[in-house]
Amino acid sequence: MIPANIIEDLKFRCDVVDLVGSYVTLKRAGSNYSGLCPFHSEKTPSFVVFPATQSFHCFGCGAGGDVITFVMRAENLDYPAALEYLANRCGVTLPEDRADPRDKGVSRKRIFEMNREAAQFFRAMLFDDTVGAEARKYLVDRGLTLPIIKRFGLGYSPDHFGMLCDHLASKGFTEEEMVVGFLCGKSQKTGRAFDYFRNRVMFPIIDVSGNVVAFGGRVMGDAQPKYLNTSDTPGFKKSRNLFALNYAKNHCEDAMILCEGYMDVIALHGAGFENAVATLGTAITSEQARIFAKYTKKVYISYDSDGAGQRAADKAFRMLSEVGVETKIISMSGAKDPDEFIKKFGKAAFSKLLEGSKTQFEFSFDRILAKYDVTTTDGKVKAGAEACQVLSEVRSQVERELYVSRVADKLGLSRESIKSDIASLIRRRNVAEKKNEMAEVYRATSGIADRVNPQAATNLRAAKTEEILLGLMMFREENIRAAIREKLSENDFVTDFSRRVYQKIMEIYEESQHFDMGRMNESFTQDEMSRVSKMIADRTKLSGNGETELMATLQALRRESDRSRKGEDVLDDIEAIIKRKKK
Ligand code: UTP
Ligand code: MN
Repeated sequence: MIPANIIEDLKFRCDVVDLVGSYVTLKRAGSNYSGLCPFHSEKTPSFVVFPATQSFHCFGCGAGGDVITFVMRAENLDYPAALEYLANRCGVTLPEDRADPRDKGVSRKRIFEMNREAAQFFRAMLFDDTVGAEARKYLVDRGLTLPIIKRFGLGYSPDHFGMLCDHLASKGFTEEEMVVGFLCGKSQKTGRAFDYFRNRVMFPIIDVSGNVVAFGGRVMGDAQPKYLNTSDTPGFKKSRNLFALNYAKNHCEDAMILCEGYMDVIALHGAGFENAVATLGTAITSEQARIFAKYTKKVYISYDSDGAGQRAADKAFRMLSEVGVETKIISMSGAKDPDEFIKKFGKAAFSKLLEGSKTQFEFSFDRILAKYDVTTTDGKVKAGAEACQVLSEVRSQVERELYVSRVADKLGLSRESIKSDIASLIRRRNVAEKKNEMAEVYRATSGIADRVNPQAATNLRAAKTEEILLGLMMFREENIRAAIREKLSENDFVTDFSRRVYQKIMEIYEESQHFDMGRMNESFTQDEMSRVSKMIADRTKLSGNGETELMATLQALRRESDRSRKGEDVLDDIEAIIKRKKK
């Protein structure tokens, strides 16, 4: 558990507008800010940030919360990791030891220390005269120079079941740490630990802070699997890291190169393309796409030239465009991957490939041209239809104009007919998208509502009243004090969820005589936090948020819970009571 004052400090230093503003373009709207929701796709902004309560809420999909919840969602982190993320961002030091029980008490810090030790061990083995001889020959045969081997910290895991385990044990690491850190496996039969990586060339994976977070190990022959990789550990998530980003981050202002493999990246760096990175044996994820967006404006996709590589390129195109990164694709011939290409044709040839790289449209249009016989009328019509489809997805109008001419010339069709076909495709898609957007919003909101407070369905009125009351309390501390004076108690609540929210509010308030929404994250899931933030967000829509409203709501709630106890289902109207009171 992290002490409340540290969380308060963290939230004080991380302003919600700053934080959210680094993910979403926000526009001022009165005293609040609005923008496009990062958690569902939408074309019109329904996402609002409230500086006064340091919270955010999307009126479309229902996502909401404070800076901590935001980071949990946006970076896909759990609560402790989100705190750490924010702490790093604003320079607060968190007390150690807040491990997730699933990690069996092994901290990230410990894993990183152990990995560093292991990387040094692997490197020592690679440079050992006898043990590392074959691995050194393998790397040199593959064209790696000594400086590059050293720069990437490559190593060798000996063909032995316990050398690393023994070494790490001598450095004070426990078997449990080795197993959690994925360096050792445990035999089902004997229960004994054994080295996980054996007789492989080792590639350490280093994050942007310089931590050794994982390893990839390649066999030197044809055995399977070709590469063995660290699974997700407390210090590592595959989907959130890129190989060589630790170096590429310093050379990536203009562009980065995305490859499939470790060896491609190493070959490119060796040839002077130090902005190359690779995903770690998986297709690119949305988290990785966001990493690119953070570091660069343009990405050259340089995947393998086989079918799988080209299909993966389509996906990378899509993911990167979604986060607003300009994307170009490299097509190679005469080599299966960048590593082989550089070796065969040299770095100048690769520079040429970069220059000649294609936009998504050019890439798709070439494929269309290869698919149809455009000397026939039938071929022209079909190719034209597909080209219009692709063109309708090009966002920039200028770019589209340019391509229209190219398609028209190539297929001998008129510009006007192509333009009008594209226009009608765009219209049709806009209508369909709007419908989808609405359906998605409906699904998301109704889904969240049901899961978070299942009793609301049968106690609609009571649940609504509870939410208004809780929202008022969280909105202003003065309202909490008023509720205490009025002897509001947990027995006044009808639904269990609202009661839990009430109890947590009181727990936080009683501990510090303050209410801090950040601490709600301790006891509620992300979906629940969304609901909590909605309660606060909705308050800003009410005409007043003071004691009058609180009293009226409290009175209405007591009536509701009375009726619910008697099994009656009578409706009430809070706004009406408020009006009467105000007169
Ligand atoms: P490739 O099979 O294209 O390997 O896989 P490569 O990078 O060209 O490797 P070399 O040149 O044969 O040594 C591309 C990437 O996919 C992951 C690795 O990250 C690899 O670099 N991969 C591949 C695995 O994780 N496991 C495997 O068994 C194979
Ligand atoms: Mn290769």
